[in-house]
Amino acid sequence: MSRTIALVGLMGAGKSTVGRRLAEKLGRNFYDSDTEIEKAAGLSISDIFAMHGEEDFRRGEHQVLKRLLTLPPHVLATGGGAYLNDETRALMRENAVTVWLNADLETLWRRVQKRDTRPLLKRPDAKAVLTNLLAEREPIYSQADLVVRSKDGPHTNTVNAIYKALQTWK
Ligand code: S3P
Repeated sequence: MSRTIALVGLMGAGKSTVGRRLAEKLGRNFYDSDTEIEKAAGLSISDIFAMHGEEDFRRGEHQVLKRLLTLPPHVLATGGGAYLNDETRALMRENAVTVWLNADLETLWRRVQKRDTRPLLKRPDAKAVLTNLLAEREPIYSQADLVVRSKDGPHTNTVNAIYKALQTWK
């Protein structure tokens, strides 16, 4: 498998943790699009949303992914909304093997509560927002090249499941 491996999925799916560990296992570099956006903007994701709004964030996200996808094959964790943008998704599909980390609502909810860095969830009805995002986005995430279940429990299982799925991928 000589292409970049791009992990997609909802907030809390484990893209960053799993991605980092998968990169170690494959001896590849690891990039996280949110981290790269923060570096480029000199601002946290929350501050970008608060100061510039989601639309600007999405534009920046597209630009950052465009750059990352020109780098030699690596493992890439993408922000949960990246794959929703038609242009960004096309770019990812052209330049990477896309893997959807599919987790159920309760797993996602349990995990996102550990960090309050996600602007879309900084509201009292955050669980309802997450529920709606899951329903809206599932049909699009499911277009990824590979679908791997991200179960509750150690991320090592998910890393191994991706590794195995990649062996059989054309
Ligand atoms: C977002 C997910 C976040 C981050 C931003 C928007 C989304 O990334 O890009 O808060 O729209 O789902 P993670 O999925 O890494 O939390």
